[in-house]
Amino acid sequence: MRKNAEELIATYTKRLKKVSDYAYSECIELLSAATGLTKTQILIGTWGSRSSINFDLVEDYISRRCDGEPLSYITGTKGFWKRDFLVTKDTLIPRPETELIVELVLSENSSKKHRVIDLGTGAGTIGVSLAAERPDWEITATDISMEALRVAKNNSAGLKNIDFVQCSWLSPLSEDFDIIVANPPYISDDDPHLKELGYEPDIALKGGKDGMDATREIVKSAKTSLKNLGKIYLEHGHDQKNKVTDIFHQNNFLQLESFVDIQGNNRIVRAAL
Ligand SMILES: C[S@@+](CC[C@H](N)C(=O)[O-])C[C@H]1O[C@@H](n2cnc3c(N)ncnc32)[C@H](O)[C@@H]1O
Repeated sequence: MRKNAEELIATYTKRLKKVSDYAYSECIELLSAATGLTKTQILIGTWGSRSSINFDLVEDYISRRCDGEPLSYITGTKGFWKRDFLVTKDTLIPRPETELIVELVLSENSSKKHRVIDLGTGAGTIGVSLAAERPDWEITATDISMEALRVAKNNSAGLKNIDFVQCSWLSPLSEDFDIIVANPPYISDDDPHLKELGYEPDIALKGGKDGMDATREIVKSAKTSLKNLGKIYLEHGHDQKNKVTDIFHQNNFLQLESFVDIQGNNRIVRAAL
């Protein structure tokens, strides 16, 4: 006989505890994604005995999570800033610490018209969030991955002030920008943590021998792509602040300031021309 909803939640949660410290909430999310019911319906529901529930799909989702697949790749979404973003295996899963770039750019710049570029937009997280917050800003979001750009475009539905361009960093773009933002790949190629991130695209993670290849290229080309007094905001790894500030100094940037994320780690450097 089929178990009731409460028993099923308890059984799945127990299995998920092997891979997650948030087994209960992940269980509810996976059940909601697999059944199409809201989380509230899952919590209060009598769905456990419903014949319309596809229990094979529920089992597939729970097993994939137990095998280590990230929750967001199974449910296909991740919350970032003020909206849910579609994510696929072609996009990085947005991280909460990246919201700091959005927060800084909004608080340090007036709402009057600005031209902004988000380099390596992935699922569109930074660019789409800025476009939604500042309808008068003109946002360009780029990525080298056409598949990621397709996802980002989907995530921008309803926004008229954002365009998408496939290119490598700033190379083919001739316009001058008021603001450049980027969360580039910054993990060293031999970093053992890459093993834990095996589901995410290498191109979104690996930054060369010292993790700084993309950062060096972006900062160098930003010198000719930023307007006078323009600003650039770059995310980096928790132990890379000095490397990033050195790169900015070598390229004659001024007004360098470093910012810490919600965990208290150095995370963003802002610089200006
Ligand atoms: C760390 S992910 C950041 C994604 C997104 N901005 C975020 O914060 O969630 C880096 C992104 O840079 C893109 N990328 C890698 N190499 C690139 C290049 N040469 N030019 C443009 N984008 C690139 C990757 O495809 C990936 O989407």
